[in-house]
Amino acid sequence: MIKIKNLEDMEVFGGILTKYLSAGDVILLNGDLGAGKTTLSQFIGKALGVKRNINSPTFNIIKSYQGHHLKLHHMDCYRLENAEEDLGFDEYFEDQAVILIEWSQFIKPYLPETSLTIEIKTISPSERSIELKAIGKHYLDIKESILRELSTD
Ligand SMILES: Nc1ncnc2c1ncn2[C@@H]1O[C@H](COP(=O)(O)OP(=O)(O)OP(=O)(O)O)[C@@H](O)[C@H]1O
Ligand SMILES: [Mg+2]
Repeated sequence: MIKIKNLEDMEVFGGILTKYLSAGDVILLNGDLGAGKTTLSQFIGKALGVKRNINSPTFNIIKSYQGHHLKLHHMDCYRLENAEEDLGFDEYFEDQAVILIEWSQFIKPYLPETSLTIEIKTISPSERSIELKAIGKHYLDIKESILRELSTD
């Protein structure tokens, strides 16, 4: 469990995570309303060098951004609850981009087999806890790298 004391800690976490991301990586951002999924997405975008403001893609479901080296697809599947809709997710998952997904549980049948899940829990107005769940060797390696870096600073 990773303790996040405030927004600055969340930004540091986003920066560390981003260092280990490469094209094609799928990150599932889980957590209740207001947990900080979009906030973390903004910090990841900032670390990737995205200049545009990242906001919740509620109406579009998916918004795409260009960073320094990597593209970013940000999805918010909240509106797809009970929708059973395939919006052509495969094309996004196969793209040379980092993919961040909020409310991924609503598109479970379409998710790739491997991914890194970031589970954010609200502890207090400013505090969060984060748990990482990796499926697949690639994501287990990313998780290990992040935990190693967090424990050494
Ligand atoms: N340590 C923190 N980490 C992340 N967000 C924080 C933290 N402390 C305070 N906040 C605030 O909590 C709010 C999180 O809102 P955010 O939109 O990121 O949540 P969300 O998980 O995306 O919610 P939704 O399910 O509605 O999309 C923001 O207003 C943010 O500034
Ligand atoms: Mg959000």
